[in-house]
Amino acid sequence: MDLLNDSPRGIEQMLLDTGFSDLDKDVPPRRRRSKNCCSSCCMWTVLAIAIVTMAYGLTETTLYFLTREHDEPPTTTASSPTTTTLKNSGTCEKRIIGYFRLGESSELTEKQISLLTHIIFYKFNIQENGTLTIGKPEEKEELAGLVKTAKWLNVKTMFSIDEEKSGSNLFSSVTADTKKRRTLVDSISFVIKEYHMDGVDIFWKWPSNEQEYSKLILLCTELRERFGQLAQATNRKTPFLISLILSPWPKHDTYRRIQDKITTLVDFLNVETNNYYGSWFSEAGHFIGPPAALYSGHEYHGGENVDYAMWYHSCRTGNPNKLNIGLSFRVNYWENVILPQNKSDTLWLKAEKINGTVRGGWLSWRNFEKKGWNLPSASWNQESRTPYFWEPDERRYIAFENERSIQEKTNYAIDKNIGGFTIWALNDDDDDYSLSKAVGSANLCSGKGDNSIVNYNCTGV
Ligand SMILES: *[C@@H]1O[C@H](CO)[C@@H](O)[C@H](O)[C@H]1NC(C)=O
Ligand SMILES: *[C@@H]1O[C@H](CO)[C@@H](O)[C@H](O)[C@H]1NC(C)=O
Ligand SMILES: *[C@@H]1O[C@H](CO)[C@@H](O)[C@H](O)[C@H]1NC(C)=O
Ligand SMILES: *[C@@H]1O[C@H](CO)[C@@H](O)[C@H](O)[C@H]1NC(C)=O
Repeated sequence: MDLLNDSPRGIEQMLLDTGFSDLDKDVPPRRRRSKNCCSSCCMWTVLAIAIVTMAYGLTETTLYFLTREHDEPPTTTASSPTTTTLKNSGTCEKRIIGYFRLGESSELTEKQISLLTHIIFYKFNIQENGTLTIGKPEEKEELAGLVKTAKWLNVKTMFSIDEEKSGSNLFSSVTADTKKRRTLVDSISFVIKEYHMDGVDIFWKWPSNEQEYSKLILLCTELRERFGQLAQATNRKTPFLISLILSPWPKHDTYRRIQDKITTLVDFLNVETNNYYGSWFSEAGHFIGPPAALYSGHEYHGGENVDYAMWYHSCRTGNPNKLNIGLSFRVNYWENVILPQNKSDTLWLKAEKINGTVRGGWLSWRNFEKKGWNLPSASWNQESRTPYFWEPDERRYIAFENERSIQEKTNYAIDKNIGGFTIWALNDDDDDYSLSKAVGSANLCSGKGDNSIVNYNCTGV
């Protein structure tokens, strides 16, 4: 009688499914107000050596939509788009971005697309020689159809480039070689032309030292140059777009030196704030918490949270409008939770590791209610501003995002002049697009004043 867990996936699949969502490659955080950085760093050196073990139960109940018939792509023959004005685009330049994983047979409808300003199609794989490939041949057709619909709805389209197998270091080796880097730029340019997309998203998790950051800068610089030529050749009025995924806790010292350069080169940065907890197969997998706590945090993460990441990056770049808050449409759960000594403590719990393994996993929000969970009855944690279910008898904890927690974050973004949100992933929303609507209905342009105003106390950043 397991309400969550149904189809154990193999380790290989787990590792392939790194998406916007595996923490174990992240670089260590530092404490915001830490006086003992050293002990924090030392702890991390040890803990960052992720031990990849078979986490059974690292499941996603994709069965529903993996087997579902692929719906007909939306027709583009109707008279005019239902949404002619996008609340968050235009002069105020705010963004509601959704990643969409190609090749999953989950549909992306006009209605869901119209809630966005940008879609990032995930993904094209980097090859050893710098060329790009798409996963399955049928993804080409899927992509072409969706780009067409998005264009019609005036939503910008981009594609993500990533390594096919995480840990293969292809970003590093390809960008290190002048010829291969050129091939990569050629390939990106080719894909943009072929599919008439608006830009590229670089999903490098993560450049780990100064040298790798230099290569990333080279790649972006060369892309900018090429995009300029391409825009001229195709008579395009607005520049092609470049975005990057950014760790909420980049290695500060290295990143500090190049932060301005990176921020100048790209159009926006997708800060991976959606993934603080829930990497069951990593060393830190037993720490339980919401995907994106707005405030507060587990001691292990130095108490880090969305507010910390946005404070840090806004203050460092002076450009909150280039930052997007990462949002997860996944539901994370842990079993064998260690009961807190004080029964009133329902946040920042830990799971017991059994034979070195944490039992837990995730499922798409779309499958959550279908599994019998009464979502309106979820508990609310005011400290982190997130919902949860905690079942002490079952020793099970479930953490996720809902309409209310999304609203807390959109209010926050308006208050702090943040550029917008990046959703991982559109595939995971329910058939009513409840979560997409919650993000898409936010009027990010209602913020007062100039987009570039940094609304934080930046002392000590
Ligand atoms: C790059 O490698 C791929 C796969 O190994 C191969 O199919 C392709 O022809 C190569 N392209 C170039 C330009 O070398
Ligand atoms: C248990 O936690 C609650 C809420 O944090 C607190 O108010 C209460 O004093 C604690 N009880 C004990 C016995 O520590
Ligand atoms: C833990 O590992 C031991 C030795 O491999 C095995 O005998 C035991 O059944 C395992 N326990 C659980 C709960 O899987
Ligand atoms: C900003 O933060 C610093 C250090 O935390 C504090 O001393 C200072 O009073 C704060 N300034 C304002 C205007 O709140």
